[in-house]
Amino acid sequence: MKQDKLSRRQFVQLTGSFLIASMSASTFLTLFEGCQKEDSNPVRPPQGTTFTIKLSENPELSQIGGFKTFNVNSTPIIVFRTGQTTFKALSMVCTHQGCTTNWINSSQQFQCPCHGSKFDKDGKVIQGPATQNLTTFRTEYKSDTNEVIIYF
Ligand code: FES
Repeated sequence: MKQDKLSRRQFVQLTGSFLIASMSASTFLTLFEGCQKEDSNPVRPPQGTTFTIKLSENPELSQIGGFKTFNVNSTPIIVFRTGQTTFKALSMVCTHQGCTTNWINSSQQFQCPCHGSKFDKDGKVIQGPATQNLTTFRTEYKSDTNEVIIYF
């Protein structure tokens, strides 16, 4: 026997299912959008560009162990002097959702203020939620001009 009308019970079940499905979809979308946060800081300056640091103008880098932060095309980077003629440069942009990490010199770690990720002095993840290391850049010391070139 064919029924043309929904019983009250069927109607309640059907609308309840529809509401639950709608809420699940919107909840999913909200969560998904949260994960897709636009990075306000790009992880790196445009690829193929360089940044030149004159050591005569940056006394923080005159000693081995010295470091200084720079803002290159809206990307915060940090440069360490690791030897007489060697330097290390890293992006300070957290690979989780793009917050700027803080360099904690006493513990030799980068710490992200947003969700607690930590990275060692080489940018390796030591605590999540980040799963990717900080971006590192090649450096070159020019003894003739006493400059450091950072290659992005
Ligand atoms: S943005 Fe750094 S831990 Fe989330």
